Amino acid sequence: MSSSSVRPFELRCEYQVNPLGIDTPAPRLFWKMDAGASHNAKQTAYQIIVNNGAKWDSGQVSSNESTHIAYAGLPLASGERTEWKVRIWGELDQPSEWSETSFWQMGLLKSEDWIARWISLPSTRPVSALQSPSYLRRDFQLTKPLLRATLYATARGVYLPYLNGKRIGNTLFAPGWTDYKKRIAYQTYDVTNELIAGANTIGAIIGDGWYAGYVAWGHRNHFYGTEPQLLAQLFLEYADGSSDTIVTDDSWCGANGPIVYSDILAGEYYDSRIALAGWSSPGFDKDKCRPVKVEKEHDTSILLTAQIDPPIRKTEEIPAKSVSRPMPGSYIFDLGQNMVGWVRLKIQGAPGTIVRLRYGEMLEQRKSLYVDNLRGAEATDTFILSGSGIKTFEPHFTFHGFRFVEVTGAIEAPTTNAITGIVIHSDTPKTGSFECGSPLVNQLVKNIDWGQRGNFIGVPTDCPQRDERLGWMGDAQVFVRTAAANRDVAGFFEKWMVDVVDAQSAEGAFSDVAPRAPNPPDGAPAWADAGVIVPWTIYQVYGSRQILTSNYSAMTAWIDFLVKENPNFLWLKRRNNDYGDWLSIEADTNKDLLATAYFAYDAWIMARIASVLNKQNDASKYEQVFENIKQAFNKTYVAEDGKVLGNTQTSYLLALRFNLLPDHLRPLAAKHLVDDIKNKGNHLSTGFIGVGYLCPVLSDAGYSDIAYTLLLNKTFPSWGYSIEHGATTIWERWDGWTEEKGFQDVGMNSFNHYSLGSVGEWLQRYAAGIDNDPDAPGFKHFFLHPHPDRRLGYVTASFESVHGTIASHWEYNGDDILLKMVVPANTTATITLPNAERTTHEVGAGTYEYAVKADN
Ligand code: BGC
Repeated sequence: MSSSSVRPFELRCEYQVNPLGIDTPAPRLFWKMDAGASHNAKQTAYQIIVNNGAKWDSGQVSSNESTHIAYAGLPLASGERTEWKVRIWGELDQPSEWSETSFWQMGLLKSEDWIARWISLPSTRPVSALQSPSYLRRDFQLTKPLLRATLYATARGVYLPYLNGKRIGNTLFAPGWTDYKKRIAYQTYDVTNELIAGANTIGAIIGDGWYAGYVAWGHRNHFYGTEPQLLAQLFLEYADGSSDTIVTDDSWCGANGPIVYSDILAGEYYDSRIALAGWSSPGFDKDKCRPVKVEKEHDTSILLTAQIDPPIRKTEEIPAKSVSRPMPGSYIFDLGQNMVGWVRLKIQGAPGTIVRLRYGEMLEQRKSLYVDNLRGAEATDTFILSGSGIKTFEPHFTFHGFRFVEVTGAIEAPTTNAITGIVIHSDTPKTGSFECGSPLVNQLVKNIDWGQRGNFIGVPTDCPQRDERLGWMGDAQVFVRTAAANRDVAGFFEKWMVDVVDAQSAEGAFSDVAPRAPNPPDGAPAWADAGVIVPWTIYQVYGSRQILTSNYSAMTAWIDFLVKENPNFLWLKRRNNDYGDWLSIEADTNKDLLATAYFAYDAWIMARIASVLNKQNDASKYEQVFENIKQAFNKTYVAEDGKVLGNTQTSYLLALRFNLLPDHLRPLAAKHLVDDIKNKGNHLSTGFIGVGYLCPVLSDAGYSDIAYTLLLNKTFPSWGYSIEHGATTIWERWDGWTEEKGFQDVGMNSFNHYSLGSVGEWLQRYAAGIDNDPDAPGFKHFFLHPHPDRRLGYVTASFESVHGTIASHWEYNGDDILLKMVVPANTTATITLPNAERTTHEVGAGTYEYAVKADN
């Protein structure tokens, strides 16, 4: 291979391509290495230059690292834009060509950089009612040729920014959900091309959002404040080197418009007869505008930080599949997919016609809309027509979880074209794919991704449809590895860990939900532990040491709190809302045992994290804590024949997955687990907590055949049962709907909860065999150890790691299994073949093909 045939590509900064608004002083840089078809390609050195070397020239650095390279040049100023490129060396002496030039732009680094003031439009309605979003605006003149214009903006509430009559950017529900009493994210937009010489207008619509609108259950609003506010600062850099700043202050004015209210849970009420045309363009009638209220001082204890997670965006449109008319005046549209977002309605009718859209996940008796499981979420959009001709409606500040939409009102019979589903979620790029010979499993894979998309909305939430939608920690920790197998969730979880730490109690207890809501409280086993499990998992998959360093003291506070409260190494105290193996099927795992197992797992992870961060004393301390818990666990819950207290599947799964048993008992415990599955007619009985460990533990113990049996089951309880009954997302409960009983209790029955979809981890790591090596995070070195099974026929899977695309394929061909695997440049892998000998190969980058004798 000639060295010049290597090439760095896909440059990223802080996981993003050409990001704006970076406020960490040493942004992390990433690239991938292209080495064509050459084998064993490795980077031996790199050189980064920033602003042609004026800011930073790293010089030639001997290193095979190409991810998380921290900027180490001259200090960067607020708003500064830097261009960077990289070249790399392979095996030969001469460097590659320089990469294409990328850039990043700094955000506002100091609180003094914010000269804008928070503004709001005093409401004309009683505070208790749902508020009408405000349209805030100001005119300004552009007098000189412009070099660049950058808008920094945020809200207490949610906002949509406008310039000269046009929506800026495509971010939805900005600034996203954080604990607004502690920090608020701001967004940065390049608006150079939106400005014109002469008169311009800047504006924003602001709504209640999580800040002031309904959150969780019980029709509770005003969690953080009563009045939505806007903060915006437009920085104008002129060609002559001078600059200007336009900020929110008393020169702004505001009005209420056609959006009567728009609330995440309640829905939107839009009266298009209330015209506010031209509100964000120059020349708008001043008389329609009321003065704004200006907050005098900045409360600097509330941090303004650049948004670091991928924005929430529209990512797909879904045409309606069919429309039916269960009764006169009511039309039900079927999108064919349980999805999250809203619909675009195109409709015609007399002025004043009220059209109501009601959203639901299921149908009752295959006919009418089923909404009982939405509990207190009204999930209703109302649109009042203003004139003749076809009108289009889309809500602004609400989202719904639904497959079906009921349209009512005095309208003519609509065709399916009247409704289009608009899918929204945190725009995490798809990085994993998995396809196999079983249509059932392929549908399961789709359902897992739809569950993830619909519930990753700024924070990982439990469900998108009912009055809840909270950042439940237990759900997040069981699903995080699957999430990372499926999409790039590095930035998403780095951001959420900030919410998790913000929600930690003064004593050190991680909460049950993050951002924290008034209740539930904190400390529930398997929920609070997300504070340790999530950073460790993100480090494993993406190699982010930063998620470990920045959360280290929070994590040690948590484990030290547990040890202090439970000096006998059984987690018996401070469990608060002890949920246990939530929603298991007639198999209650002992809660003391479950808690103690997680206690041990936390200590085990902490020992590893401490050692990664070179904190050897901590590492030995937590290793000892782990050993102590393990001993107490065995003494209290494990019998000599390998039986674990309660004999539930989850009790074995925890003991095996968290390495709590002595070696000689592991096979016995695995056998008891398998016996229980067989006694249940080859069925699982696990709830949220056990389910993700089920297939991995079975495979590790040599029972992949049983894992596949569970995977392919169609009878209750199984993933297949829901799919056989039409599921297009993962259900909250195995028995959300059954042939015998119909719908489960409406008090808690979501049809879009991702937790039971945590089998996605096993599909990638075991079925396809693309598995991370804990000692070489970020898939720098990884395992390819597929577990083929004839019942699936074939698997074709890929994973886009921070280094490049890993691929794994196997298929049965008579008595043989054919395999094809791809290892990206600058990484190495251990391939273990699924033959009787489990032959291994240590390989570098390249494409590898094998044929082995099938033993099943
Ligand atoms: C949520 C869960 C959550 C649980 C706590 C439910 O209401 O939907 O997913 O983890 O409460 O047990």
